[in-house]
Amino acid sequence: MTARAEVLAGGSGSGAPARPVRVLVLDHTGELGGAELALVRACAALGPQVQVRVLLFAEGPLRSRLEALGVPVEVLPLDPAVARLDRHSAAPVSLSRVVRLLGMVPFMVRLTRRVRALRPDVVHTTSLKADLLGVVPAWSARRPLVWHVHDRISADYLPGSMVRLVRFASRLPAQVVTNSRATAATLPVPSTVIYPGYAPEQALAAGERRDPAATGSPVVAMIGRISPTKGQLELVRAAPTILARYPQARVRIVGAAMFGGEDYAAQVRAEAESLGVSEQITWVDFTDDTAAELDRVSVFVHASPVPEPFGQVIVEAMIRGVPVVATRGGGVTEIVEDDDGEDDDGAGVGSGTPARGLLVPPGDPAALAAAVLDVLDDAARSAERAEAAHRWATARFPVAGTARDLTGVWLSAAGRGR
Ligand code: GLC
Repeated sequence: MTARAEVLAGGSGSGAPARPVRVLVLDHTGELGGAELALVRACAALGPQVQVRVLLFAEGPLRSRLEALGVPVEVLPLDPAVARLDRHSAAPVSLSRVVRLLGMVPFMVRLTRRVRALRPDVVHTTSLKADLLGVVPAWSARRPLVWHVHDRISADYLPGSMVRLVRFASRLPAQVVTNSRATAATLPVPSTVIYPGYAPEQALAAGERRDPAATGSPVVAMIGRISPTKGQLELVRAAPTILARYPQARVRIVGAAMFGGEDYAAQVRAEAESLGVSEQITWVDFTDDTAAELDRVSVFVHASPVPEPFGQVIVEAMIRGVPVVATRGGGVTEIVEDDDGEDDDGAGVGSGTPARGLLVPPGDPAALAAAVLDVLDDAARSAERAEAAHRWATARFPVAGTARDLTGVWLSAAGRGR
């Protein structure tokens, strides 16, 4: 962006080290998954000490989002058959896998050449495939490698073979960044926890929210990639109970199936049909404008049946003042329940009921429905919780902090200290 461009043109002034640390970010996808949205926001918040360049292994909307920020992007295509490999069904060692790996050799050669030619100070990988594929190029170019891990490296979340491989290879990068303490706990090496941040324009000012339930029928919504790890199926299964008490309510499922989630999306729709609730469900494709979606929501649901690595969309709901019901586990607990942030103003957690939202056991549609009904039945209490959540999340997760901490990691990886 402008500030950065000025500095790159040599405007750092007053004898300070003039050259920004050059970071080459590798990501296997051009789609806008959670890690990619987090990357875009972090890039927008970086200061003059850093110059980021991004190399993607596939075209996609991520490219123009980054380019709009002034970040140079190039695409080195990886065979889509490899790039689309569904991480939930990746077979263990098999002949087809070996053939696929061999098919990647030319790509690896090109990637290595490109990384060497670009001579970054740091190679930063931000998806599991990029983490693994970045090892050889960074080593060959003698550049420190930083992994940014957005997935829990655990057998309840990834295929066992992937877990073993990533855990083994996690000893190779110079530094590892994780998106939550929950993710950090799944790795055998120490990591720096850096929470994804929200951009200032995503937040509503305190008290600015208008309650959508007051103007019509309540909207119970989930926003996120359609995936078995996100739990749209659980919300659909909770829907009959919610609709029995609030027949005028709508359930809104916002998001696209990506990274191989198409079969699951079909299963979710079929379940809605068979439970007789499909008429009351609105399906919305991926949207860029999460804030606008959130402003029409009465209860925001996060239903991951397996522990979520972080769950940044919960933060997005909180900073728009929307009441949250989420499944307990993983990074979600660090958002909804944990009380160790210095910035908390004593919202009072720990007395049994989390002060910032309702947590339910994963994979339990009945508990999910009960919590949603709790929010709808007691609007005053849930508004109080949402206000506490708004205060907490706006203070705890601003993207400026994410950018500052990432910069610190890159400077130290590049041997520049801070
Ligand atoms: C991934 C994780 C999600 C996290 C996001 C940003 O999408 O699944 O939990 O919020 O990355 O770190």
